[in-house]
Amino acid sequence: MSLFKWSSAHSVYLPEIDAEHRAIYRIGDELHKALLAGAAPARLQPIVANLLETAEQHFRHEERLMRAIHYTSFAWHKGQHDSTRKRWRALAKRIAGGDTDATGELLQFLSEWLRGHIGVADRMMSARLRNYLRFNTSLAS
Ligand SMILES: [Fe+2]
Repeated sequence: MSLFKWSSAHSVYLPEIDAEHRAIYRIGDELHKALLAGAAPARLQPIVANLLETAEQHFRHEERLMRAIHYTSFAWHKGQHDSTRKRWRALAKRIAGGDTDATGELLQFLSEWLRGHIGVADRMMSARLRNYLRFNTSLAS
């Protein structure tokens, strides 16, 4: 079963955010496939690094957008990002230390977290952003 299959059900109806989510799903799937194929830790680590960096850049982008529109649920949304960052960093440390179970744990956690976060927090944020864009032609990105 694929843990990272992006579909239109994950859309938040903002093309640039959807594109970033798709990139995270694509790298997550690459890591999952490498893990299933029995890739060595040295081969998994650069994919993990790419996944976490791509996710970090995406979080920062969302946070910039939310700040730009003075989004009232910013602290709550960023709190979700921050607790996830903490969890990822702990798992990345274990992966770097050669813990072979940690990659699977990261994938499972990320897959579940993304489903919940995109479905609720990101949808709420994007509804507010789309509403903002209706009255303002540009948005800092
Ligand atoms: Fe988010």
